[in-house]
Amino acid sequence: MSNSLSIVILAAGKGSRMKSPKAKVLHEICGREMLYYSIKAAREITDDVIVVVAHQKDAVIAAMEKHFDNLTFVTQDAENFPGTGGAMMGVYPKYDDVLVLNGDMPLIQRSSIEKFLANPADIVMSVIPLDNPSGYGRVVIENDRVQRIVEEKDASESEKAINTVNAGVYAFKHHVLQTYIPKLSNANAQGEYYLTDVIEMARNDALSISPLYVEEVEFKGVNSKNDLTNAEMIMMDRLRRSWMDAGMIMQLPETIYLEEGVKFEGECIVENGVRLCGNTLISHSHIKAHSVIEDSTVKNSDVGPLAHLRPLSVLEDTHVGNFVEVKKSHLTGVKAGHLSYLGDATIAEGTNIGAGTITCNYDGVKKYQTIIGKNVFVGSDTQLVAPVEIADNVMIAAGTTVTAGKYESDILILSRTPIRKVAGFFTKFFGKGK
Ligand code: UD1
Ligand code: CA
Repeated sequence: MSNSLSIVILAAGKGSRMKSPKAKVLHEICGREMLYYSIKAAREITDDVIVVVAHQKDAVIAAMEKHFDNLTFVTQDAENFPGTGGAMMGVYPKYDDVLVLNGDMPLIQRSSIEKFLANPADIVMSVIPLDNPSGYGRVVIENDRVQRIVEEKDASESEKAINTVNAGVYAFKHHVLQTYIPKLSNANAQGEYYLTDVIEMARNDALSISPLYVEEVEFKGVNSKNDLTNAEMIMMDRLRRSWMDAGMIMQLPETIYLEEGVKFEGECIVENGVRLCGNTLISHSHIKAHSVIEDSTVKNSDVGPLAHLRPLSVLEDTHVGNFVEVKKSHLTGVKAGHLSYLGDATIAEGTNIGAGTITCNYDGVKKYQTIIGKNVFVGSDTQLVAPVEIADNVMIAAGTTVTAGKYESDILILSRTPIRKVAGFFTKFFGKGK
């Protein structure tokens, strides 16, 4: 029987180069933590995924448990055994064959991981030839054979000139880690236990080490904020392309910000400058330029330009125009063409929301609901002081302040100060010359 495979993801490091109070692997790319993506790719291959944690361990575990069930977390003794080799110390005795991924490699995909598993060598390790190798460990290759990996901080000038680098993914046969992890030392520039030192020891014992050449677009290590942005651009480009493959129309796609949790259905049009965030569903709809939609559902509707749907908004068969903000509201068959705030509202079909309509949903302490029935004509510049409930077939005159309460069907609601006309006032005020 062949050995079983486990995938180990190293996520215990501080990530000091991020210069952030937040653990590196929790920094987000397209709206999800970096670590989410490596776990997602690993889970496409096996359920047996082990995540090594230490720095901000509780936050890392809590964030990943929101996305995945049945992950195994192993805590590294990072104080006494820092470094990627230290990370493996709590892991190696328990598992057979192990594929190791760095948790700061969000761009990796299933198909690439599979290439490591198809190779029978004792160690399969990822290498990338790079024009600018700085920041990575260099792979010393002599006579076509991998000799060792030298970390940048330990490298001599001539080693630094090597432009073949270690991408940080390895497949180890069971016996490799059992033999060499206990022998790692921390006698190096960083005082850390380097997993990469396994390579030289295995080579000295004539084990088979197979370099697998990979591409930086998938194996990029994210160490700094600049790396984070670059990785996000690559990821977002992938998301946009896959949605266009699925039939979406995107105008100037490179200006559209899209998160991992966003889904489309049917044929949708997304214009330039749109930002779509969180768990948003856009179905058979047209999102016009520079609109922002967060955690919302939009079906058979058109939104924008310059509209803002805040979390938990649901639009069905609805038109929302420019400068309309909607929050936690359900609009079915509604027209809200211009300049409105609709918060904590439920509005039924056939209802027209005039320009300047505002739900006054907050009294400074609590939020209240606004419920508007079918075929209500809400005149421009109406304030709806919640809690307010308006039955079907009601007309609200422009400029009305609808005070809290219930309003029955088939009425006109109007609150207006009568007009006064003061004859000769203009001339009296400005004089004849004007
Ligand atoms: C590592 C490799 C380097 C390679 C690069 C590829 C080592 C010693 N160096 O360097 O050869 O070119 O990745 O991107 O392995 N981690 C822990 N515990 C720790 C330290 C780190 O779990 O004590 C985790 C980190 O959270 C991170 C990963 O291991 O996800 C890599 O650590 P990082 O410090 O980024 O290593 P690099 O210096 O980039
Ligand atoms: Ca790294």
